[in-house]
Amino acid sequence: MGDIRIGVIINGATGRMGTVQHMGNLLAIAAEGGLPLGNGDRLIPELMLVGRDATKLAALAATHGNQRWTTNLAEALAGPEKIFMDCAATGGRPARVRQAIAAGKHIFIEKPTAPTVEEAMELARLCAAKGLKHGVIQDKLFLPGYGKLLAISKAGFFGRIVSVKIDAGSWIFDGTEEGRECQRPSWNYRKADGGGLALDMMAHWRYMIDRIASPITGVFALMNTAIPERVDEQGRRYTVDAEDTNYALIRLQNGAIGTICNSWAARPRRDDTMVVQVDGTLGSAVAGRWKCFTQSAAETPEAFIKAAKPGGVDLMADWKEVPDSPVKPPFRQCWEDWLRYVAEDAPYLPNLVEGAKAVQLADLAYRSAREQRWMDVPELKL
Ligand SMILES: NC(=O)c1ccc[n+]([C@@H]2O[C@H](COP(=O)([O-])OP(=O)(O)OC[C@H]3O[C@@H](n4cnc5c(N)ncnc54)[C@H](O)[C@@H]3O)[C@@H](O)[C@H]2O)c1
Repeated sequence: MGDIRIGVIINGATGRMGTVQHMGNLLAIAAEGGLPLGNGDRLIPELMLVGRDATKLAALAATHGNQRWTTNLAEALAGPEKIFMDCAATGGRPARVRQAIAAGKHIFIEKPTAPTVEEAMELARLCAAKGLKHGVIQDKLFLPGYGKLLAISKAGFFGRIVSVKIDAGSWIFDGTEEGRECQRPSWNYRKADGGGLALDMMAHWRYMIDRIASPITGVFALMNTAIPERVDEQGRRYTVDAEDTNYALIRLQNGAIGTICNSWAARPRRDDTMVVQVDGTLGSAVAGRWKCFTQSAAETPEAFIKAAKPGGVDLMADWKEVPDSPVKPPFRQCWEDWLRYVAEDAPYLPNLVEGAKAVQLADLAYRSAREQRWMDVPELKL
């Protein structure tokens, strides 16, 4: 039994994901003495923080135990670190990842992995050709609510799944109101920087629907830019050229249909901003990030006739909450799975082909919106 140190480059360390989810969870693993491996060794991550702003990076590194840092990505890639995590803004990710592949690093990156499915698959193939391990962050099924949804689906609760409904989003301030800054960085609203709601969120809906219900085989989408002008981090007005609203109909392999309503210009009146409903012949479930409620066929109230008069039926009454079970923070789980895969070849699902599938759904949704027709979702293979 011994300590094994593994170097991890975090590119985009000063960003929201970089600081909280990636650096934060890796430092927590290190602070606990490392990740226990099957043979009794402990894997201790050692970080190299990379970003563009030396002042911010130096401050971040200093306040988190004097971590090593550089603003020079090439210099970091020339070092001995084994893993490259890219969690910088989405735009330009394939070029950064290709650089890291050329330097022989194992690749673990944020979603979306690339702007198009072709580029996403190219990254997967480049890694495979060099014998490098590759993975993408797929955190949402580790959230308690969606984790419960997945568990009851696997246990057969739904019977034959007939439909899936996703209702997601909230109002994102445009930055023009005093004291109400835009909650999302401005790059999310510029195509050239990797912006666009479909590219951002289809990445999650793809693996969630594929695994909770059935693989997606077709998509028809409508998109819109509801708020065409916003104010950026420097207080300057800019024109939004990426969509902030997506509607999609989807077909699933098992014959079920689905709807995705995702908007950054809608005010939710529901349990959570991201709600997933699954309906099946034996029961239905509705989950947000934390809670999941079920209604079995036997518990289903008569609603068609009773709902025709005011107060005739309480549609919220006949649902049961699925109890909590202990879970780790989602990004911590993502890192543990990935580190075990790198260190001891543990089974690993979300590789860059899975990442490309997510990009594929966004890519096809954009084409569908442009051409106003159904798009088939072909199988992707290395
Ligand atoms: N898995 C998830 O649930 C989830 C959630 C949010 C964001 N993300 C993804 O994480 C990534 C970062 O998102 P965020 O919300 O942390 O963004 P952010 O704007 O907070 O951070 C982005 C970081 O990238 C840097 N950056 C900005 N433009 C850059 C450029 N052109 N080249 C290199 N670096 C640049 C910024 O300085 C910052 O350090 C995105 O790819 C996003 O899609 C994933």
